[in-house]
Amino acid sequence: MIYLKTDEEIELLRENNILVSKTLAEVGRHIRPGVTTKELDRIAEEFIRAHGAVPAFLGYEGYPASLCISVNEQVVHGIPSSKCVLKEGDIVSVDCGTFMKGFVGDSAYTFAVGEVAEEVRQLMEVTKEALYKGTAQAKAGNRVGDISAAVQAYAESFGYGVVRELEGHGLGRKMHEDPGVPNYGARGRGPLLKEGMVICIEPMINMGTKAVVFEQDGWTVRTRDRKPAAHYEFAVAVRKSGPDVLTDYSIIEEALKN
Ligand code: MF3
Ligand code: CO
Repeated sequence: MIYLKTDEEIELLRENNILVSKTLAEVGRHIRPGVTTKELDRIAEEFIRAHGAVPAFLGYEGYPASLCISVNEQVVHGIPSSKCVLKEGDIVSVDCGTFMKGFVGDSAYTFAVGEVAEEVRQLMEVTKEALYKGTAQAKAGNRVGDISAAVQAYAESFGYGVVRELEGHGLGRKMHEDPGVPNYGARGRGPLLKEGMVICIEPMINMGTKAVVFEQDGWTVRTRDRKPAAHYEFAVAVRKSGPDVLTDYSIIEEALKN
């Protein structure tokens, strides 16, 4: 069942996703060699609560933290830990969710820790560009497959592996609504996109094989070949005029300049 949102509901979703963007910026300011992912999680939880929201991930199907922090070969759903110390050259996907005013925010960004290898920098840039290419298809009258195919074609043109086991999703009063939004597929296929649909588009792109392994902790997903992966996520409202992106990466990227 796909719920179409009113303009008022979309503004509440925007408020949540702006708070997520600000939280990701705050976390990004603290990303440096020596910091633990547990410390980053604490910073995010305090920031979210100080802004009148609740961390949407905490307690979700038993998830134990406010952020998912996935380092290098971890693709998504890495659990913050006091034992996980970031080091120069790492890349970290930080995925954040909020709940406020009856709606959910959900967005992610992959950060570099200091200087990263050129091939890893390219993986990050291509994954973010794949997100933008997918997002450009989020227009009423298109289909979910138009988004999926745009993400897949761009990522695969660099020889990267597109993860199959996880996908984007509808977003609203619940974090995971219909439709599913795969990062691979065929143009012109899948559910029709309509004015007022809100979806999360979240490419998970591997430098090597597309194959992933689900770790024994019940959450962490990593690449089978242990090569790095990148992950970015936008919440997007589908409009007749085109995509209305509810996440604001400029807040994060401005914070990273200073
Ligand atoms: N952005 C992730 C997703 O869309 C967040 C889920 S993590 C969880 O699936 F811990 F909350 F499950
Ligand atoms: Co999501």
